[in-house]
Parts: sequence; C-alpha cells; structure tokens
Amino acid sequence: MIWIKNVFINHMRTPMGLCEDFLVTWHAESGRRNTMLGRYRLIIYDESGVCLDTGIKSGGNFAAVKLESFSARSLHKYYVKVRIWDEQEQNSEWSAPEAFFTGILDPDEWEASFITAETKDDAEKSASEYVYKRISVKAAVRRVTVCASALGLYTLYINGKRRTETELAPGWTSYHKHLLYQTYDVTDTVACGENEIGLLVGAGWYKGVMGPYLQRNHYGVLTAALCQIRVEYEDGTTEVFGTDESWCAKEGPVTFSEIYDGEIFDARKNGICRCAEEVKELPVRRLDVDKCILWAQPGGWVRVMETIRPVRIFTTPKGETVADMGKNIAGRPEIRAKACRGAKFELQCFEILDNDGNVYTDNLRTAKQTIIYYSRDDSEFVYTPHFTFQGFRYIYVKSWPGGLTAESIRGQVLYSSMEQTGYFETSDTMLNRLNENILQSLKGNFVDVPMDCPQRDERMGWTGDAQIFCSTACFLMDTYSFYRKWLVDLRCDQKENGGIPHVIPDIVTGTEVRGFLRQGTDSAAAWADAATLIPWKLYTVYGDESIIFEQYASMKKWVDFMRKRARGAVWSYKLQFGDWVALDAQEGSYFGATPNEYVSAVYYLVSTQILYRAAQVVGEETDYCTYQKLYEKNLEDFRRRYFTEEGRLNIDTQTAVVLALYFKLAPKEYTAGLVEQLKNLLDKYKGHLVTGFVGTPYICFALSENGAEKGAYDLLKREDMPSWLYQITKGATTIWEHWDGLKEDGTLWDPHMNSFNHYAYGAIGDWMYKVLLGVREDSDAPGYRHFSVCPYIPENLEHVKGSYTSVYGEIAVSWKQREGKVYLDVLIPVNTTADIGLHNIGIQDKNVGSGTYEFVYSLEGRE
Ligand code: BGC
Repeated sequence: MIWIKNVFINHMRTPMGLCEDFLVTWHAESGRRNTMLGRYRLIIYDESGVCLDTGIKSGGNFAAVKLESFSARSLHKYYVKVRIWDEQEQNSEWSAPEAFFTGILDPDEWEASFITAETKDDAEKSASEYVYKRISVKAAVRRVTVCASALGLYTLYINGKRRTETELAPGWTSYHKHLLYQTYDVTDTVACGENEIGLLVGAGWYKGVMGPYLQRNHYGVLTAALCQIRVEYEDGTTEVFGTDESWCAKEGPVTFSEIYDGEIFDARKNGICRCAEEVKELPVRRLDVDKCILWAQPGGWVRVMETIRPVRIFTTPKGETVADMGKNIAGRPEIRAKACRGAKFELQCFEILDNDGNVYTDNLRTAKQTIIYYSRDDSEFVYTPHFTFQGFRYIYVKSWPGGLTAESIRGQVLYSSMEQTGYFETSDTMLNRLNENILQSLKGNFVDVPMDCPQRDERMGWTGDAQIFCSTACFLMDTYSFYRKWLVDLRCDQKENGGIPHVIPDIVTGTEVRGFLRQGTDSAAAWADAATLIPWKLYTVYGDESIIFEQYASMKKWVDFMRKRARGAVWSYKLQFGDWVALDAQEGSYFGATPNEYVSAVYYLVSTQILYRAAQVVGEETDYCTYQKLYEKNLEDFRRRYFTEEGRLNIDTQTAVVLALYFKLAPKEYTAGLVEQLKNLLDKYKGHLVTGFVGTPYICFALSENGAEKGAYDLLKREDMPSWLYQITKGATTIWEHWDGLKEDGTLWDPHMNSFNHYAYGAIGDWMYKVLLGVREDSDAPGYRHFSVCPYIPENLEHVKGSYTSVYGEIAVSWKQREGKVYLDVLIPVNTTADIGLHNIGIQDKNVGSGTYEFVYSLEGRE
C-alpha cells in the first residue's frame, strides 16, 4: 500500500497569492520497502470542477512537478490532488486536497494606484499615516480578497481589526525593481453594509534610517500605500475598490517608528476605524509608480511565530527593572496593561547584562531599541509595535505606571514563516544546547532577509554571512522560498559589470560611505560568492532546477567578473574581507592572517566549478566546456602558487589549510601532509581554532573527511576559549559574533562589533547533521533522491537521534553504542535510495531502498 502524506505547492502549504511556477511536491509513504514511484496523476479543481488533469504521467524524478500548462485565474481558490503509482503498479488513493489561492496574474488587472499622504517636507519623518476607505458592500459576499503593498511598511486593518497574517509587510527587497505585495482572504471580517479598509503605513526599510552610516530615505522620501479589494458577491458579480484619490488619510497613532530605534505609539491619536478622537486629516495624492515592479509573495511572510513569557523580572544592582525573556530573540515586546490617559510606558530591549549584572546597551551602537506607549484612557490594552523589531533577551522597563507582573509583558518572536525540517538530539547536553542555539540564531536573523544580526544598527543582508550559514539553515528549516526571494534581490542589485554588493538589498553602494567601506561596496571573495553557492545549495537540497535557470545568468556574470580581473588563479578587487574576524588577526584588526589573495583564489575556483556544473543542469554545453577548462587551468596555477614541493601549503594558517582540504584543491597525495599541517596549526594554539568567517564552517570537515575525525570531534567538544561550547558555558542562547564576545574575566568585547546573535559560526550545524547524524545529500542526485547515512561514532558519545524532512519525505536516523556495538536505525523515504554505514568503518550497504531498517555494527564491521 502506498499513500501521500503531504502535498506542497511551491514548497508551501496553502499559499496565498500564487502567481508563478505552480510547483507541486509531495511526501509519499509505503507499507513495503524499496518503493519507487512510477507514475502520477495530478488534478487541479475549483468549486465548479476540474481545471487541469495531467492524466497519468511517468518519468521525472518526482522531486517537483511543474504545471507549465496550467492557466490560472487571478484571485481564485484552487485545490490540488495527487495520486501515485509505484514501480509495481500499486496505486495510492487521491491525496487530501491542498488549497492554493492565486494573486493578480496580469499587471493590467491592477486598478489601484499608489497613494501617499506625505509631502516632500516629510522626508525626515518616521511617523505613520492611516489611509482608508469606507466601502459599501451591497449584498452577501462569496469572497473578499485584498492585495496590498507599500513603499514603506504597512499593517492592514479591516473594520479596525489588525490583520496578523503578515508583519513588516511588504518586506525588504530591491524596491525599485522587486516590490512584493501580499494577498489576504478577508471574507470573514467583511459584512454587508459599510466596511472600513485601511492601511497604517510607516517608514521601515524604505525611508527609515538604515545602514552603516545611518542614512535615511534609501529608496525614496515618501511612503505610499497600494491596496486593491475585490468583492465577489454570491451572485457571481464582482466589485473592485483600489487606492486612489477618493481614499482618506489621517495621522496614524504610530508617531515614530524606525527599524533600529523602536516605536512610539500614542493611543490618544488612534483614529483607526471611526474612532471619536480628533485626529488630523491629511490630503491624499496619487504617486506614479510602475506596477511592473510588483511581485506576488505567496508565503514565507514574517509573522509572530512564537510568543514567550519572561522567565523572571528582577532589579539590577543599579536599581533597573528588567524582564528576562530567557532567550535571545528577534521580535518585539507585547504590553498588556491599564493606566490613566497619557500614562507613559517605556521599554528598552537589549541582549546582555554587564559584568555587574546591570543593563548593557553599548553593543547596540546607536540603535535605541525603545518602545514607548501612551495610553488612551483607563481601559485595558494590548499593544505590540508595528514597524520595527528588536534583538533582545532582556527588556529594561524604564517606565511602567501601575503594577508590573510576569503577565504584563510578552515577547513576540518574529521571523519569516518556514517549516522546521531538521531535528537533532544527542546524549550530550552541551551539543543539544549548541544545536538549539544555532536554530535560535537562524530564527533571530531570518527576518525577511538573511541578516548578520538583529540588534545593533546593522541588520543587513550581508552576503558572506548568508552564504556561510546556508547549508546549516537548509537542514534546520525549509528555506527554499526565503532564499529564493532574496536571490531575486541579489540579481536585481548585481552590478552591470557582474559585481555583487556586500549587502543585499544593497543600500550601501552609491551612498556617502565612510570608513573602510570607502575602499569598495561590492565583490568580496566568499561574500559575493553567495551568488553561486546559495543557488547551487538550493538545487542540491531541494532538487529543483528552476532555481538554477533563474540564477544562471547572474552566476555567470559573477564568475566573469572575477575572470576579467584575474591573473591565472588569483584576482583582486577593492575591499576584501578575507577570513573576517579570525583570531589570528593582528591586534586590533578584523582581518584574519590568511592572505586575501588566497581566499579570493579559492572562491574563484569554487564558483567556477559550481558554474560549470550549473551549466550542465541548464543545458549550456558550451559554457560547461569553457568553465570546466577554466577551472582546471586555474587549479593548476593555484597548485603551482600555493603548494611546496613537499606537498605543504606555503600559507601557514588554519583557514588556508582548511580551505585547501575542504574544497579538495590539493593533489590527493598531499592530503596526509596537509592534515599534519593543520594539526600542527591547531597545536600552535594549544588545540584551539583561530579561524574566522571563512575557515570556521569547514574546519571540522577538513579534519573528519581526511582521517582525523577524532580531532574534529575534540575540537567541537572543547569548552574553553575559543570554541563553540565556550559561549554555552557563559549562558549563550544564540550564536555569538565573536568567540570571546564575553571574555573569561566577564568583560565584553569591543562594543562596536559585539553581537550575541550572529549565526555565522553556527555553520558548524552542517557538520553536526552530516557527520554526527550522518545524513548527507548527493549533488549528483539532487533533492536527496540519493543520499548517505554514515554517522561518525565518537568514543564518548552514547547516542544521536534526528531527522531531516527532504522533498521526498522524512529521513530519520538514530544510533546508539553499547558494549562495543553500534545500533543504527534508519528511515529512507519512498523514491529515494541511500548508502548506509558508519564513518568509522565505511559504507556497508549501497543503494538501500525506502523503508525502515535496523543495522547492528561492531566498530570492526557489520554483525
Ligand atoms: C557584519 C558581518 C559582516 C561584516 C563584513 C559586519 O559588520 O556584522 O557579519 O559580514 O561586517 O564586513
């Protein structure tokens, strides 16, 4: 018997506002082992019947079926059902229907115009405006949909009720080329008669203060709203209401809101939805914005994903009242209170207490992270900010009229909605904590764009950080939509000459830069290579070629950028970060000891190799040959430059050796010598790593893949500085930017660069999943169609248990060792095969088909 457990559309459940791809994936399960899929049939239907029937189809890898021939109607609800046949012609029942809702498919269907209630004089203003319209709904409705976007940020209100499906909408993108809109089904809140539809609009990333030099108005000086409401009556007729000059506007109750600084909300000015208060009316005018820049965002919206309560409220030695939320998050406080009119509540969010246990905000730099609320009257209220988010574990309660209890404050955890796909647990509590902290840092930094950190005045899509962490993130969460959206911005912001800005969306290039960024704002090795590494990772993990088709031109432009500037294997260009913040840096420098030229050469090779493999995926045969030859030629040159005749690397840093080993850049016969070299370099620092952003993700791989697995595990298990576990001994709940963010003597690193929620070093998660759990994808059979389960069993670790939900379904692994034997249980999804064994003794069984298995090994071989 076979059956279908889950169906996804574009890797999402019940997407709202889908406009492209119509990519269907499913998880199949079977009552017998070795089940492969032979055929499928897929139908799409709506309330009036079948809209598409693929008939029974065979072939393909079933990682995803793209419905090229489906012609959808705008703003329409469809259902999809799948039926499958295995290779023995056994068929499943139809899957449970999975619904999806389309967006506005043709830009000409936009009747709404962008409207603004601001003028040029408001350029410095970070307040809100409420734009609204009272619409008359004439009869009973079948469905009411709203499509909304903004230049700035918006919150949608229907009859005074805040919609909570999205937060910080329309997100942060390369607005002039790629502006997202969101689609809402609001049928349940609209009734026959008069209804008020409104958008509260704030500055956000569009016009607020952002970036390293605290500049504002990066994309424009006026906020604007776009909203189109479609009312579908029971009798089938429709009516459309779009933003235009007939809409009204008032000053909004958010009197100040900035991403870094927080929000001020004056409830006395709350004029949302027919409130009696006197609130200043504002004139509305149309803005001329080309609607071709609009893209539907059918999911992956930033939302309140969790709500947490303070674990304690206490008074610091200095007398400050502080709520400890128990873990470091990105999000915002929620206030529940009651106080007389005009009473002021003031909270400041921060990450860490100082050595004496007092409030410490220096590492926020200029970010105020402050929330102020003025109450309207003496009735109870619940307030959460609209257009800001903070990075914090603690809340400093600066002003709180009335009694403060643990019930008064909550923490809303915000991040882009994604399903968790990775689970990992061991008999070692420190490793469990590390895994938890990595996940926590992912959540804390996946707020619409992959950020470096969520607390200080930065919070940007640094390409290097995103690239370094991508493999780990792909284990932990279904990141497909999240990265795919960001890659569109990478494409949009890529320079004419192929250069890749350091941050995406790029708010730095072309602005008045100061400091070291004056040397260059784009194209640093290992940072810019996000352009090749991330699409390739998504392809190998999710098995979907479309990502390569979409990014191919950009990938090629980036490799050509390096090629144009290269002399053989090496190239250079303006500002390079090298092995950023490595501990072998000279005192006071952020730049590690590994020469930039070497790092650039390595990544040039890595990106060229990815490019020629990508060329094969998209059928660009000529490119395949050209770039493969280029790779080989450059590899030869690289070897000539960097290896001694004895097979040692002539750059004696940990990161240099790690990169050569991990990316297999040395002739095979040099491997043992290089491992020796790396071990010596570890000994030099008494067994510690001193690697930075570039070397850290791969140091354990460099050891474990080359016969030194114990060395890798010992490195992971260290608890003294610098190590992954050191920060856990210091109470970390997220991954730190610096190994020694909080030093052994309790003092803190330079406040200028000291984030306690910086996922980059969390890249070790990839090693934990691939080596300790042992699950590894095979890039020749993308999407885990074929993979391996080959965990390394360290001497002192009793068990590891975990799972990864691939596009084909769940891969589960559990091993334990007892009395010289290792018991390994594995679940292999339908339509996939796996090579199975232990890292310690090698692969024992090749191409094992789907099903559950229990293996028993001795460490000398299979029992
Ligand atoms: C960020 C890093 C980033 C780096 C590059 C820092 O300010 O926080 O994570 O990659 O700059 O210079």
